Amino acid sequence: MVLFALTPGLAMAEPTPVDGLTSEQMLVLGERIYRQGILPNGEPIKAVVSADVPVNGEMFSCVNCHQRSGLGSIEGSVITWPVNGKELYTPRRRTGAWHAAREKQGPGATQRWSLPAQYQAADARPAYTDETLAKLLREGIDPAGRMLERGMPRYQINDSDMAMLSHYLKNLSTENDEGVDENRIRFATVVTEGVSAKDRQAMLAVLKAHIETHNTQTRPHQRRASAGPFYKTEKYGAYRLFELDIWELTGAPETWRAQLDNYYRQNPVFAMLGGIASGSWAPVHHFCEDRELPCLFPVTDQPVVSDSDWYTLYYSKGFYQEGEAAARYLRTTPDTGRKNKLVQIYRAGNNSVLLAQGFRKTFANNGVTSIAEKKLAVDEPLTEKLLQELFEAQQPAAVLLWLDRADLATTTQWLAKRDRQSVTVLASWSLLDGDTSAIAETVRDNIYLTYPRDLPESNAKKISVLKRWLKIRKIPVTNLDIQSQMYFLGWMLPGAISHMRSEFFRDYFIESFDMMRDQDYAIAVFPRLTFGPGQRYAAKGCYIVQLGQGEQPALIKKSEWIIH
Ligand code: HEC
Repeated sequence: MVLFALTPGLAMAEPTPVDGLTSEQMLVLGERIYRQGILPNGEPIKAVVSADVPVNGEMFSCVNCHQRSGLGSIEGSVITWPVNGKELYTPRRRTGAWHAAREKQGPGATQRWSLPAQYQAADARPAYTDETLAKLLREGIDPAGRMLERGMPRYQINDSDMAMLSHYLKNLSTENDEGVDENRIRFATVVTEGVSAKDRQAMLAVLKAHIETHNTQTRPHQRRASAGPFYKTEKYGAYRLFELDIWELTGAPETWRAQLDNYYRQNPVFAMLGGIASGSWAPVHHFCEDRELPCLFPVTDQPVVSDSDWYTLYYSKGFYQEGEAAARYLRTTPDTGRKNKLVQIYRAGNNSVLLAQGFRKTFANNGVTSIAEKKLAVDEPLTEKLLQELFEAQQPAAVLLWLDRADLATTTQWLAKRDRQSVTVLASWSLLDGDTSAIAETVRDNIYLTYPRDLPESNAKKISVLKRWLKIRKIPVTNLDIQSQMYFLGWMLPGAISHMRSEFFRDYFIESFDMMRDQDYAIAVFPRLTFGPGQRYAAKGCYIVQLGQGEQPALIKKSEWIIH
């Protein structure tokens, strides 16, 4: 809903009325032009890019370049200017001062970016009016008479559609979002009932330590910002003390939403950091989506998997992603993936449903192989008899066994009694909770595991850096997996905050992660994390492994991290 994007209680810029539409209706239509490139009549807007090539404006919607916040971006030497009304309807005096409050500070401060000469003009352009904005969109000429670079398309847009778009821009990113003041940024983290004391401590201790470190380092910066010359004010202007509220959720997940709303009403926060829940993250996810509240890297194997949701940035798709990886792996393995049958066994009401979903959805895209499925009831054990029947009926090339330790032990016993050459079983490391003791040596050639973390052979150094960091802060190692995830979050946070300069908009905040380079340094549990506009699952891979021989078997890598 667009209306949430507006600061509540703030007077909306008055639109030039169009055909008796209300201001809200115009905003909704304007947003559709901006985000989707669809005009109020349902047609795509027509754009012209280089050398008068007309293109479908859906592919060239404003959001693709100017971002959802409207605050634009800088990539290399390409500057995509902010287009929120606050910036457009005031003169742009100098680079580096692309927000109105700094406008009076005069020319200078361009040393922050090395810029092409035309951007360094002391008076880059006067304020836009509705007329000059329309001229810019249609002809590419700004109010100073400058012909814009070809990077900015020209659009065919009539007066009434233009009125909706400019009304939208005037109301886009107007006042800082809630949860920030001159000195502080307030965050919250969620912990639900049912999370073990150990995991709770692992999550909170690291997060708090990061925040403490930040706050200790921030004080001198804040002093410098208030005392120093203006170009430093700009640089240090984003520094704020961080505050972290802990939102404890109790009772049934259906009641979490009301608790979250209540916490938020009492003390609004700018964003959520980390968080840990027993069971699905969905209630928190939907709360954040509805509130348009960024949530960074919650600790969960049960995220909401969506192509279009915006506000929660996850490490991975969790169980679902392991199912996906298994499907990709089998697709690339000629004797199992292409023509033969597969059997998928999973259990109702359980994480294994997510694995099965991820597998099914990804495999379906292939369209060649049929999958026979067996869904066990919640308390129904897997028996050797059932396995035998499934095998005789289906003659599968591989079995996806999304079940737990006891079931894997049954499978191992059953396997030991038959000709094993023809049998491939895939199981999930996470569902076994890393306990592979049920897999006897004799059947290790038959069993493959999805392994959604970095391999011990390659992450030892990163783990030792993390352990040292914890030790210095006197934080006991309680759950390295969780601690590593929170370590990375705390490590990234200051960069994301300073990216915002003094523009504390939630969309802009989350966009700063979209702009981040791939990371493989400060994250110990994943080989690497990748970011991109609208991408919300940063660890995009999963290994397939087998167990080596011996009591403490090594993990033998059977696939690369990313399986295509
Ligand atoms: C393909 C990328 C792209 C798309 C799509 C795009 N823009 Fe731009 N836009 C740019 C770039 C790059 C510039 C800066 C060009 C320059 O300064 O020469 C720019 C400049 C502008 C400016 C001038 C800002 C100023 O301060 O003078 C406005 C206004 C603007 N765009 C609005 C829009 C709107 C509204 C849409 C959607 C209808 C849109 N743009 C779509 C890339 C894009």
